[in-house]
Amino acid sequence: MSTAGGKTVKLILATRNAGKVPEMHAILVDAGVNAEISALDEYPDIPMVPETEPTFVGNALLKARAVAAHTGLPAIADDSGLAVDELKGMPGVLSARWAGRFGGDDQDRANLDLLLDQLTDTPAERRGAQFVCAVALVMPDGIESVSEGVMRGRLIRERRGENGFGYDPVFVPEGDSRTTAEMAPKEKNEISHRGIAFRAMAAELAEML
Ligand code: IMP
Repeated sequence: MSTAGGKTVKLILATRNAGKVPEMHAILVDAGVNAEISALDEYPDIPMVPETEPTFVGNALLKARAVAAHTGLPAIADDSGLAVDELKGMPGVLSARWAGRFGGDDQDRANLDLLLDQLTDTPAERRGAQFVCAVALVMPDGIESVSEGVMRGRLIRERRGENGFGYDPVFVPEGDSRTTAEMAPKEKNEISHRGIAFRAMAAELAEML
């Protein structure tokens, strides 16, 4: 299974979004891991695992364990969200459904509208926040590894930028004046919680093989 020997490792990325596969592949290649990655769309019979844990790490592990158990292959899963200082770390694991459940584009809009409302009276110096991502790797033999990535920044009052998703239009990373929705995807990946966590996981996997 080692890449040093030129072998390819088969992995399942626990996402229904097949678009994430090439991104993951590129990160693994950079870490020296030759991987053949499948997304869950190739395994339609795997049931969706509800994200019931109170932490990002817990939810990422839940999903990766379920997929590894079902497929018998190494599985990678992530969980992420926005932790706002003024809200004591919320929305946190509830980021995707902070305003309740709407679905589609309305979901992101409703979540962000609610967050901006909640922070109306919060002055600039208390608008710190961070995006957090946990990535879990579960091997079929039960070996597990978790990597985390954090991107610190602050929340502005009005949306800016068209890229990204979720809370990107109001999040300005430390050291920049643009929101992550004003950055090209590649540029965001270089500094993002998800990019950091996935690169750490890739390094971890390279060690294991
Ligand atoms: P997940 O799909 O359970 O990991 O939920 C992630 C949620 O956190 C998304 O629906 C967004 O609301 C938020 N989120 C996570 N990462 C980002 C990001 O990079 N930009 C904007 N919002 C994010």
